[in-house]
Amino acid sequence: MFLIFTISLFLVFGLSEAKKGPCFNFNGNDYLKYRLENVDIAHNVWYKLTFKTEQENGLLLYAEGSHDYEAIFLRGGKLHYFLFNPSSHGVGGTFGGQFKSDAKVNNETWITVEVFRNREPKLMQNDPLIGMVLTSEDGEKEKHIEYGARHDVQIVLPIYIAGTNKDLGAGGQKFVGQIKDMREKLSGAVFNEPTWNSGALRCLDIRPAQ
Ligand SMILES: *[C@@H]1O[C@H](CO)[C@@H](O)[C@H](O)[C@H]1NC(C)=O
Repeated sequence: MFLIFTISLFLVFGLSEAKKGPCFNFNGNDYLKYRLENVDIAHNVWYKLTFKTEQENGLLLYAEGSHDYEAIFLRGGKLHYFLFNPSSHGVGGTFGGQFKSDAKVNNETWITVEVFRNREPKLMQNDPLIGMVLTSEDGEKEKHIEYGARHDVQIVLPIYIAGTNKDLGAGGQKFVGQIKDMREKLSGAVFNEPTWNSGALRCLDIRPAQ
């Protein structure tokens, strides 16, 4: 009896965990690195993750190629998505993207952020989408979306979460808080066990009863 209970408990938690992805606690020293199988983020991507923090600054996600890079980060309490994609002619200027939340998001509540680049539009006559959508705990949404393909973006795995081992200057400050339910929605990949974890611990994701 107990065994059956244990097994069903494992199934319930095991499956929901597999579906939602783990939660990690970051203290400002640690980061994760993901090399997801069968995921190609070179041309297009659709990240989704949920975080909670009190800090005004910190890096949530970072990925790069030989010339391009993209980052989701906090600066002054606001959430930013930045895509760096210099023009191929080398005549200055970048054809990337820059998005910033209206509201501060470092109020110790769960915020879900979705960031996409070259995402297929719903209507075929439209250009691909780039942007950032925030959803707060109460379901309130804030959308920052543009139409327009970003050409020649070359960004590769790994995807860094909460920091990197690179010197990214002020923007690379490591994140303090919790990050959970990370995924790449175009491939359906869930970020489970990281390829590299510098020491971040799992958090207990206890939601208050509704
Ligand atoms: C926390 O911040 C989010 C995003 O700005 C906002 O939607 C939410 O209402 C805030 N919650 C509280 C409790 O202040």
